[in-house]
Amino acid sequence: MNPFLYQYSCCGKNFCSRCEELEQLNKMILNNSNIVLYSKRKVGKTSLIKVFFSDKIDTDKYLTIYMDLFDITNPTDFAKLLYKQIAISIPCDYKTILKELKELFNRVNFTATMKDDGELEFVPVLSSYNFDELMSDIYRGIEKLSQNYDKKIVIACDEFQQITLIKEIKIDVILSKLIQKYPDINYIFTGLKRHLLTELFSKRKSPLYDTVSLLELKPIPIELFYKFVNEKFNGRLDFVHFEYIYNMTDGESKLIQEFCYYLYHDESNNKNHKITQEDIDKVCQVHLESKSGYFRMLLDRLSLPQKVALKAVIICDGTELYTKETLFKLQTTKSSLNTAIRNLYKDEIIDKENNKYYITNRCFELWCRKKFL
Ligand SMILES: Nc1ncnc2c1ncn2[C@@H]1O[C@H](COP(=O)(O)OP(=O)(O)OP(=O)(O)O)[C@@H](O)[C@H]1O
Ligand SMILES: [Mg+2]
Repeated sequence: MNPFLYQYSCCGKNFCSRCEELEQLNKMILNNSNIVLYSKRKVGKTSLIKVFFSDKIDTDKYLTIYMDLFDITNPTDFAKLLYKQIAISIPCDYKTILKELKELFNRVNFTATMKDDGELEFVPVLSSYNFDELMSDIYRGIEKLSQNYDKKIVIACDEFQQITLIKEIKIDVILSKLIQKYPDINYIFTGLKRHLLTELFSKRKSPLYDTVSLLELKPIPIELFYKFVNEKFNGRLDFVHFEYIYNMTDGESKLIQEFCYYLYHDESNNKNHKITQEDIDKVCQVHLESKSGYFRMLLDRLSLPQKVALKAVIICDGTELYTKETLFKLQTTKSSLNTAIRNLYKDEIIDKENNKYYITNRCFELWCRKKFL
């Protein structure tokens, strides 16, 4: 079986240890902090939270609730998801859980069903669609739950930027009031970096401003990641070759695992030889090519000035985009390029570090380099 995994968040033997970060999260939670965990894309935020909840946090003292908000499109989805995730966080057999849920909440009935993957799911059927009412019911229930088990509650809200798309109700306003009203509940927020760091938590007028401590998740250090990967290759990957992959992917955990997955797959008929530079180049080339259809679609979604701006980022390697030569080469004006860059930045298609722009989807950047350079 292929020992690399890149399609889902990871845990167990697929998770390269992040002791420091787990320790840091633990300290912050013990300190009663609410946390915004942010990073570049695909570095491992979701995995870290899940591993923190399953392996690190003291489960004698804490009950953890994990919400992935990616699919929510309205306030009712938010409330339903929270009900559902509270249900599966209760550490009992399903009959006791159903009984307990009845006692905890007044605005919902639950049914227990078995999902295709064999996991149990509790489906909430709401008796109200008033969001304030539902949230009051939920928080009263959480408080009781906390008392019943004599444990503190930690709620992780993953893909939290999703709430900014919900226009009918300001979930951040309601949540900030609940955070004040129930100060014993702790939160870990994570999601798209720019949305979190600007709109949701750092603007003075945003309701959640100043309610959190920031924690940046950096790429896994190269030595640690090398050891993890090389073990899976049974010692057949030299450090210099891993370093090449690490630099090319800018240390992005997912892309490293993805390239390694195909590297392992590709030379699956020959498990004895050392991996060579040619093996790596071939796999990267084929893999980027296989994504062409998808990346072309991403490009097609952009306006013409935005495509030009993306090209500028690539050909200037992210710096000094507005020189006469570049503007001439791309047949554009400074103001048009400037507006397009601002829009790409706002939509998190590009980001900036040390005064240098880069494409946030590293694989897309590598593909664009092949096309534009
Ligand atoms: N600690 C880790 N060890 C090894 N691989 C990891 C680790 N963390 C993440 N990965 C790899 O990165 C992939 C993406 O991880 P994850 O979904 O946790 O990232 P994320 O930062 O939440 O992504 P997104 O930016 O989409 O929210 C995983 O499938 C796995 O391949
Ligand atoms: Mg994630």
